[in-house]
Amino acid sequence: MKRRTFLRITACTVAAGLLKSCGDDGGDAPLPWEGSPQPGDALFPQSVASGDPSPNTVILWTRLEDAEARASGEDVPLYLEVARDAAFEEPLALGGERVLRVTAEGAYDHCVKVRLQGLEPGMVLYYRFVVVRDGEAWMSRTGRTRTAPAPEDEVPVRFAFVSCQDYNGRYYHPYRAILDEDPDFVLHLGDYVYETTNDPGFQTGTEDRQMVFDDTAEAIVFNEGEEDEYHAAVTLEHYRTLYRTTRSDRDLQAAHERCPFVCTWDDHEFTNDAWGANGTYFNGRVDEEDVDRRKAASQAWFEYMPVDWPQGPDFRYDPEAPFPGDLIIYRDLRWGSLAHLLLPDVRTWRTEHLVDEGGFPGRVVMTEDQLLAQPGGLPDVQGPYIDLDAPENAPLRQLVADGAESGGYDPAHARGLVSVTWLDDLANRLDPDGTSPDVPRVPEDGRDELPRGIAFHHFAKTAPYSSLGARDLVVEEPLLRYSAHLWEESQRTSEDMLGPEQEAWFIDTMRSSTARWKIWGNAYPLSAMAVDLRTVETAPPALAQRFLMTAEDWAGMPRRRHHVLAAIADVENVLVCTGDRHAFLAATPHPDGDPDARVVEFVTGAVSSGTFGSIVLSRAQSDPTLRSAGAPALALLLRDFLLNRDVRANPHIAEGLMREHGFVMVELDADHAEATFHYWDEAVARQPEPPAEEEHRVIHFRVPSGSRSIERATGDGGWERWDLQTLTWTPVD
Ligand SMILES: [Fe+2]
Repeated sequence: MKRRTFLRITACTVAAGLLKSCGDDGGDAPLPWEGSPQPGDALFPQSVASGDPSPNTVILWTRLEDAEARASGEDVPLYLEVARDAAFEEPLALGGERVLRVTAEGAYDHCVKVRLQGLEPGMVLYYRFVVVRDGEAWMSRTGRTRTAPAPEDEVPVRFAFVSCQDYNGRYYHPYRAILDEDPDFVLHLGDYVYETTNDPGFQTGTEDRQMVFDDTAEAIVFNEGEEDEYHAAVTLEHYRTLYRTTRSDRDLQAAHERCPFVCTWDDHEFTNDAWGANGTYFNGRVDEEDVDRRKAASQAWFEYMPVDWPQGPDFRYDPEAPFPGDLIIYRDLRWGSLAHLLLPDVRTWRTEHLVDEGGFPGRVVMTEDQLLAQPGGLPDVQGPYIDLDAPENAPLRQLVADGAESGGYDPAHARGLVSVTWLDDLANRLDPDGTSPDVPRVPEDGRDELPRGIAFHHFAKTAPYSSLGARDLVVEEPLLRYSAHLWEESQRTSEDMLGPEQEAWFIDTMRSSTARWKIWGNAYPLSAMAVDLRTVETAPPALAQRFLMTAEDWAGMPRRRHHVLAAIADVENVLVCTGDRHAFLAATPHPDGDPDARVVEFVTGAVSSGTFGSIVLSRAQSDPTLRSAGAPALALLLRDFLLNRDVRANPHIAEGLMREHGFVMVELDADHAEATFHYWDEAVARQPEPPAEEEHRVIHFRVPSGSRSIERATGDGGWERWDLQTLTWTPVD
């Protein structure tokens, strides 16, 4: 085995008894340097970090920047000091020594991770790293961290949760407010980095604040040669650059220096809308599975994030290990008797998105017989279809082949069951006046007798090789029917989010937890976000549908979502803390047809990434199909459509903010879980200066233990409860 290819943690047991005095344990031994170390920020440009505290362990992290060692790849010795106080006057002995010698290994970009063991529950400790150069000692900034309380201790819990911190032209102001709250830990739900350098779809790089790869030879290139050319990370060096640059931010550093972090990943730690080792940039046009790229992303995450892992302290990241399973990040942490935090990994083991992005829009995917076999019979959204392989339909087969080039699809699709609506649209496109004898049409006579089914265009999939109608903006009814159909056909394997092993772990851990509050650290929402434009007079006919705004998350796998929620239906006090959406939501998703089994989900807005409202608007403006259908005017009303009480599109969503940044602060005691949205207007993220105090707004929510209902502070000391029947806030007595 090539030892140098593995990053491992240096595990260090803090000697028993050290906690009283360290003199007996080697604390009086001479230090490897003379005098006091000098501040060496330039040698530790990402500062320090800590994470994954347990009652007896915590992970400490730093990275040494040394141009010479970087060029040669040589290892550099460092020293770690740990103390009970910030002045290091009460040092802790590390493995019997006053300082612990660790190695910043060239093979790991000179990242260092140390797992302290044998600590006391609920203790605060300070730490710093020291490097000695020509007899002179240089130190990192001092970090502060803490261990978790003992599992039996009923200690109130306070944590902040965050996600989505795009660096390009954007600033991390919410972290300052997080430090004002002084949480026990920060829960990071992913999109800690973004893998693209400046995607004009949502990134806004500036000269001062821009992700740049030194070497783009192996990067994925978009808009090549154009003014808005940008790149996506592929190599280990690219992914490391993302972390080095992101963590050059002083606000983010300060948060890591003051609080332990508990982190999971979402898609952008690897690639947009990732599933397994697959990307989705090209929407089915090319095979985007790239295991080496996935491993480069995983290795960089492993090197830079202060995470412990379930495989134990001897685990070493081995890029030769088969994917998936090369890095298992799902895990759980206890914080006293009140909190049990579960962090499933929803990206590594998930199946592909249900609707094929590359799908041919005219293709029938559910026949009349299949629809009639389901409860409910024929759905509202369906249409007639014909069989192009029938001899009498040969002219129509030719029509489909003729339209392939201008329609951007493969002429090989000119076969099988095809939607008549789609054939009509195609004929109208090729022959707008309806006069050409060369453009055959489906006869008007006999249409009523044709079988009716669901084709890809019924999902709003107007073009092949597009995420529209597949991952984004999908008509809900056909998605639910198709999902149910595939689920039965595949013996319940068509949709998977966690993989069998992780799902069993997740459900067992939830069901057997003895903690008061079960905190589900969830990388993307459980709560579906539907927009129902069927009764909106200003909606153009093409958009008069009930859409799911996204099917990239749990809402896009309705059967699996139901299965998991039903399996934990009788677990009390589940609090789902969610990232990814770049929007705030307070909601109570539930298994299908069983609102009594709901869980409470709070979704945080992005720290800095473009808000959901602004991304939807920019997509509506830039996509020709959406723009010509009149979507931009509707996009401005997104929040109204989501929360409109008359339309009842989302009875489970009590509150939502679509164009704000911020974080959520959670405070738990035996009686209540409180969640506070801290938010700022989206303009703030692009200003280098911290926002004025009055720009910081909050909404307080709470959930009484055992209730499964969301309450909101009224502002005068009272509370009101979200009522699922009336969809109103009603006073709590
Ligand atoms: Fe994000």
